[in-house]
Amino acid sequence: MAFQNVDRAAELESFYTNMDAQNLEGLWRVAHDVLTPEPTTVVQPYLWRWENVARVTHEAGRLVPLERGGERRAVALVNPGLRGKFAATDTLYAAIQLIRPGELAPPHRHTPTAIRFIIQGEGATTTVESEKITMNEGDLILTPNWTWHEHRNEGTEDVLWLDGLDIPLIRSLSSIFFESFPEDSLPLTTATDYSTKAFGSAAVKPVGYKPAAKDGSMLMYRWPGVQRTLESLRNEVGTAHDGMALEYINPHTGGHTLPTMSCWMQMLRPDEHTQAHRHTPSVIYYAFKGNGSTIIDGLRFDWGAGDSFVVPPWRWHEHVNASASEDALLFSMNDGPVMEAFGLLREESYSENGGQQRVTGVFDG
Ligand SMILES: [Fe+2]
Ligand SMILES: [Fe+2]
Repeated sequence: MAFQNVDRAAELESFYTNMDAQNLEGLWRVAHDVLTPEPTTVVQPYLWRWENVARVTHEAGRLVPLERGGERRAVALVNPGLRGKFAATDTLYAAIQLIRPGELAPPHRHTPTAIRFIIQGEGATTTVESEKITMNEGDLILTPNWTWHEHRNEGTEDVLWLDGLDIPLIRSLSSIFFESFPEDSLPLTTATDYSTKAFGSAAVKPVGYKPAAKDGSMLMYRWPGVQRTLESLRNEVGTAHDGMALEYINPHTGGHTLPTMSCWMQMLRPDEHTQAHRHTPSVIYYAFKGNGSTIIDGLRFDWGAGDSFVVPPWRWHEHVNASASEDALLFSMNDGPVMEAFGLLREESYSENGGQQRVTGVFDG
């Protein structure tokens, strides 16, 4: 019998070597890696300090000219688990972009969809298709899939914003297309800030209005309107896991911000400490105002205004406002619309320890 086993083992080994040479693999050999009971990811929870990112971005402003080919002066937040992949999560990319006075980021379009959350500086504009949009701190501006766009700094100070794109997702689908606009600038045939004039103040729209983006997405959201909404909801209950959280919706459909990404602004009121949960969407956060912590799988990430951090898919997390007197505001983007579209949206509440995790360490970068 022992001889038979040795023969069989040798035969199997040669069988597998032969399979491999023919680019074939047996599921029975890899099933435990492929069909995991829960999601696994190489994406790491991570935080980028504003002072470091800002220093590098301003150095790029001094050293790197803005020109065709390079297209944009954007410093990407690379997840340590995705080095070489130019990505912050499996599906999302984020970067800090700088445009200096007098500069033009040339017009182009691409299939990855982009969002911009304005961090600081005045006097810059983004043109999407034929509409020029002025950019102010706290505004959210969208450039949906395959819309022409350019950025221009017509002011006297540096302007910085957070870019968020679905590049890793679109690349994994091998669907990236890119095209430069043949002229130096886009023709402006729509009134400046028309989207704000049309949708800025109430649940109405101009009769006969047609969205500039083919997918019907909104182009811009002004910070003062979002701030007013948060303020008016301050004393309402809010959500268990996210404090008072708002989603930027598409006013044409009532649906998510974009087909592949959803953007949120959440307010953690003084001393607010949310309940922990986990979900399949991954999230990139940008701390807009205030100070606080996010505890991810027991590790505490302390953040202040300007810091960015990542919550990977299916990791326990909860948020804490560290101040007893100031609000903390978190802007974020997530890939929830993709999860939802494919029936993959799952969420679970943390039930142990009163719904909040025990802190086992502090992230020190
Ligand atoms: Fe672009
Ligand atoms: Fe969450």
